[in-house]
Amino acid sequence: MRIFALETSCDETAAAVVQDGWKVLGNAVASSMALHAQTGGVVPEVAAREHALKILPVIKKALTESGLGWEHIDAIAVTHAPGLLTSLLVGVNAAQALALVHQKPLIPVHHVAGHIYANRLGRTADFNFPALVLTASGGHSELVLLKGHWDFEVLGETLDDAAGEAFDKIARLLGLGYPGGPAIATLALLGNPKAHVFPQAELGEARPYDFSFSGLKSAVRRLLQKTGEGITERQKADIASSAQEAIVDALVQRLADAAQKYKVTQVHIAGGVSANERFREKLAAALSHKITVVLPEKKQYCTDNAAMIGAAAYFLVQKHPRLLKKPARVPVLSQLALSKAVAIIAP
Ligand code: KG4
Ligand code: ZN
Repeated sequence: MRIFALETSCDETAAAVVQDGWKVLGNAVASSMALHAQTGGVVPEVAAREHALKILPVIKKALTESGLGWEHIDAIAVTHAPGLLTSLLVGVNAAQALALVHQKPLIPVHHVAGHIYANRLGRTADFNFPALVLTASGGHSELVLLKGHWDFEVLGETLDDAAGEAFDKIARLLGLGYPGGPAIATLALLGNPKAHVFPQAELGEARPYDFSFSGLKSAVRRLLQKTGEGITERQKADIASSAQEAIVDALVQRLADAAQKYKVTQVHIAGGVSANERFREKLAAALSHKITVVLPEKKQYCTDNAAMIGAAAYFLVQKHPRLLKKPARVPVLSQLALSKAVAIIAP
């Protein structure tokens, strides 16, 4: 089965053709990140205008790369939630038009499910269920137990800032560019990760796998206020390095605890933050050697892309084949918990 997928939930306009949930036949991404770097973050109206400009060329590029025509496509998939509402609308309207014109079923896909299925791309081997998946990006940090295809148990989520958002906000405080994750990771290499011990958020035993990063951001702000104007490059590097350590340790600790409790043999990491080298290094060190850490096959599958949406859609319709038969309902929602994703589209 070949699925043509679209993703426009944030600042990447993306289209892809994916066969049988794993084989990427065409993959095109146009990012408006450089524009957002000028404002230090994504301005929704600016992102939506860029999507509107780029969606048609990106669709054309992905299809051309696949060497296929619309007659070879079995279904259209699109991210319908969560994300920036005006950005989502561009992708959903384009997908609806494609589905109507080419008479294809339309499959709505939850963005976080897409990040989970990014780890299936390029691989013939399936997940080993149950698998533990951490998706950590600019908009979400979720720790999910994947019990089977499209059978998610959300073990923990962020109570305030997402992990990538914490990187972005701390980078902003330090006067580094957007996106903050790569900027902090680079500067951190020059600093001492033990220079500052930032306290981990205490969330209580009832929520052992939840995250909270807003306290860390405030601690960095207070430290910078104390240091004042004359901050040296070395001091900045120490703060970047110590802040990265605090975020990474919070993620690694929860993953290691959950991996042990749920006796998984695979830990998948996905979303923009999974590109962080320090995180990868510390996670591998914290897990038993019997557990495999699975990363997206290519770096471009870590960040937002449409191939992951095509993969997630394939496994969704394997489980709910009736989604291929009836006209899909596409509720566009800027907020939607992963645990409710299936209920809303395949009630
Ligand atoms: O998944 P993604 O491309 O888009 C969202 O859905 O948000 O993730 C982008 C986020 C940004 O917050 C960015 O700062 C973070 O991922 N990120 C990183 C790294 N590369 C990207 N965070 C830490 N280390 C990195 N190397
Ligand atoms: Zn994302």
